[in-house]
Amino acid sequence: MSKIKVMSVFGTRPEAIKMAPLVQSLTAAPGFESICCLTGQHRQMLDSVMEIFSLKADYDLDIMQKQQTLSSITTRTILGMDSVLEEAKPDLILVHGDTSTTFAGALSAFYHKIPVGHVEAGLRTYDPYSPFPEEMNRTLVSDIAALHFCPTIANAENLKKEAVRGQIFITGNTVIDAMKTTVRPDYVFQTPELNRLDFASRRVITLTCHRRENYGKPMEDIMQAVRAIVQSHADVEVVYPVHLSPVVQECARKNLGDLERVHLIPPVNVEEMHNLMAKSYLVMTDSGGLQEEAPAMGKPVLVLRRETERPEAVAAGTVKLAGVERDAIYAMAHTLLSDESAYKTMAQSVNPYGDGNACSRIVQAIAWHFGLISAAPADFTPISL
Ligand code: UD1
Ligand code: UDP
Repeated sequence: MSKIKVMSVFGTRPEAIKMAPLVQSLTAAPGFESICCLTGQHRQMLDSVMEIFSLKADYDLDIMQKQQTLSSITTRTILGMDSVLEEAKPDLILVHGDTSTTFAGALSAFYHKIPVGHVEAGLRTYDPYSPFPEEMNRTLVSDIAALHFCPTIANAENLKKEAVRGQIFITGNTVIDAMKTTVRPDYVFQTPELNRLDFASRRVITLTCHRRENYGKPMEDIMQAVRAIVQSHADVEVVYPVHLSPVVQECARKNLGDLERVHLIPPVNVEEMHNLMAKSYLVMTDSGGLQEEAPAMGKPVLVLRRETERPEAVAAGTVKLAGVERDAIYAMAHTLLSDESAYKTMAQSVNPYGDGNACSRIVQAIAWHFGLISAAPADFTPISL
């Protein structure tokens, strides 16, 4: 019997980090031929992940442009995918999450009548403009997909309520699988700025902020809140690996560039990032991925957004929604820096997002779907449930 040809399509840093362990599992699994198609929506930030996980692209659409628009990402991906799909003729396309690559990749597969598996399916805020355009991207992909790999029970419930077509699996999030290889207690940083930090005598805050819906006043307010925190806490150092988006770069430099204890550094590779978080006191972020990773490390997270599609760690108490208003963000961070019991309450290691076996469940689900094996995988259940 010929092998099932599975093509993983991804293009941004977070998709690559979360797809990398799955591509590795598919490559090792009998019965499958795994191929990788990069859109190149991100360039440097994507290449760094490919290198860390020793992945090789079979196709690379190389679409990234400076100041790219949502329309340019989408159209360049769809046009590029046409010839790739005609040549490769995969049996299944896997896309991840909610980026423009995800949506355009799934739509291209649909145009070629190739079934789609959606990894990290079922996350919702139910506000079409927040996160923008991610909420709409993932909702549209749910209509296209034949296989939905949901990280949590709540994600699967969302899809059941929406009565989506296709098969739903609860697998855990593949990022927890990725962390099995990246986080190490004896890790030594390669980035000189990180090696110079004294994590024992200083309280390090890891900061990231990049979302499109935060561009403008919300992002200015967030940066000003961070500025006030640093100025009022002498032992705090902020490490901010600044996203390469020119809008974000400009905002970070303008609001924080003159502060000695704010380290604006270029994006770091995923091993550096995970180990930086593991050694930090607190994480402040508008990122999706960091909201899943930091709780697993027992690090409190202040989410710099108005809502989150990841309520599980909020319910568990390690993540708080801080919003995008300067004074509210400052107040929450100040509490965590000055009230030990408030800090301890949040700093518990919880893992509602996975047990490190998401990839093997996804591979098993695909094998079952194609009739290679007789049993579907058992659902992921978090330990506390
Ligand atoms: C994209 C995703 C977002 C995800 C984020 C992860 C969409 C619409 N948004 O947003 O969901 O959270 O990635 O980081 O898909 N750039 C570089 N080099 C890189 C990467 C980006 O120079 O390696 C610059 C380019 O100038 C590019 C800009 O960043 O035009 C913005 O990149 P883009 O992918 O459009 O948006 P993100 O904000 O990264
Ligand atoms: N990350 C990284 N280097 C950095 C910043 C983030 O490797 O300098 C990782 C982070 O650990 C997480 C992922 O990138 O795994 C999150 O990506 P991002 O915040 O860009 O996107 P989101 O998760 O918000 O979609």
